[in-house]
Amino acid sequence: MQRFEAYLKANLPEAPSFHPIYEDALSDMLQAGGKRFRPMLLLSVVDAYEPLLYDGALSVAMAVEMLHTYSLIHDDLPAMDDAPLRRGHTTLHVKYDEVTAILAGDALNTDAFYILSKAPLRADIKIKLIEILSRDGGSRGMVLGQAIDCYFENTPLTLDQIKTLHINKTAKLIAASLQMGAVIVGVDKSIQEELYSFGLDLGLLFQIQDDIIDETCSDEEAGKTTSNDGDKNSFVNLLGLEGSMVQADTLAKDLQRRFDGFDEKLQRALRPLMIKYLNRHKG
Ligand code: IPE
Ligand code: IPE
Ligand code: MG
Ligand code: MG
Ligand code: MG
Repeated sequence: MQRFEAYLKANLPEAPSFHPIYEDALSDMLQAGGKRFRPMLLLSVVDAYEPLLYDGALSVAMAVEMLHTYSLIHDDLPAMDDAPLRRGHTTLHVKYDEVTAILAGDALNTDAFYILSKAPLRADIKIKLIEILSRDGGSRGMVLGQAIDCYFENTPLTLDQIKTLHINKTAKLIAASLQMGAVIVGVDKSIQEELYSFGLDLGLLFQIQDDIIDETCSDEEAGKTTSNDGDKNSFVNLLGLEGSMVQADTLAKDLQRRFDGFDEKLQRALRPLMIKYLNRHKG
């Protein structure tokens, strides 16, 4: 985690010009922090199987975090969730202006793929990483999820449709992070696929918990604008708080069972990240 933070701070986007705020806007939300869940998933898989590749994987982890951060900057815009607080800081469209926030998001999105192209890894591996991140972050992944999320505000969806929404907007990028780690270290396809499908359900659990956070946490506790899902097809709005917790517990138990089937190295590396999400039913 500390290595990732240090790497990120040392490699913030640089785009010097006479523009007074543009370069700061690119870095603000990256520096603001967050849980770094996706980069940590990716790096943990690398650490489990090929620790010598950890340094080379840092830029890949940074690329994933940049794409995720772009999605948050755009998610907070007035046209989407209209949120003034993110990662404990004022959102970019409030601090600067909407144009700057849109463009900072655009830049982080594109720069993520530039960074991937420059990663100190074999060319065939980099192409695979670019394929996975663009597949799950783009029109059939995160963006589709955001499109459904926003288009169907105030229009109730079915539980299956909400699952599709959450799988796309959140779970695919989480699953992609695990798969990208597996691609970097070159483990068997079967392990890659197992990690990916585990990641999809982990991501679904993550988003159910995010919906619960919106309902139960203050802005200060969450570091972002909460009580903001009133018009959304969130799990809490469909199933209620109790029902959402039951869904989360059921998913967590199933994920724990699958996690216990992972090999020892992978379990050891991923365990610290999993504890918070899989131990719900114990606490
Ligand atoms: C928030 O993601 C948006 C969702 C997909 C739920 P995170 O909860 O990972 O946000 P940060 O990165 O910690 O700020
Ligand atoms: C956004 O989901 C997920 C993204 C792809 C950015 P939310 O709108 O629930 O995320 P928060 O609650 O604002 O972090
Ligand atoms: Mg949203
Ligand atoms: Mg939001
Ligand atoms: Mg949310």
